[in-house]
Amino acid sequence: MEKNNRRKILNLIIWGWAGVTSIPFLSTVFRFTSPPKREGPITAAVSTTEEVPPNSGKTVSLGNRPVLLITTPEGERRAFLANCTHLGCVVRYREEENDIYCACHHSVFDIEGKNMSGPAPRPLPQLPIEIENDNIVVTVS
Ligand code: FES
Repeated sequence: MEKNNRRKILNLIIWGWAGVTSIPFLSTVFRFTSPPKREGPITAAVSTTEEVPPNSGKTVSLGNRPVLLITTPEGERRAFLANCTHLGCVVRYREEENDIYCACHHSVFDIEGKNMSGPAPRPLPQLPIEIENDNIVVTVS
């Protein structure tokens, strides 16, 4: 009878110790395997209009996302998520070609964000843009 009690206590200690020591490990595994929390939409003034004159582009950061601002030669303003739809490199505007270019694997997008050549499989996501008091205001969701 006493031997059984000792065995029960020993089992309790061993399993208790195993349970307590596995918490940090399980917590780490859970953090790595669960998807990151999604932030809600972020709206912010990211540049002045003066900083993006006609036929130019500027890359800014909003939240933790790169955003490409473009002013076309005709003066229209656009904003795109600047991650290439191939493998995520940051794209840039090319004034001479009037297009958007990814230097990683040479994908080319037109100024509407449509993929024109190279390995990029999809257009660049276009972002809502507003001009408020000479500031360019962009929303990233
Ligand atoms: S990451 Fe842009 S073309 Fe490959």
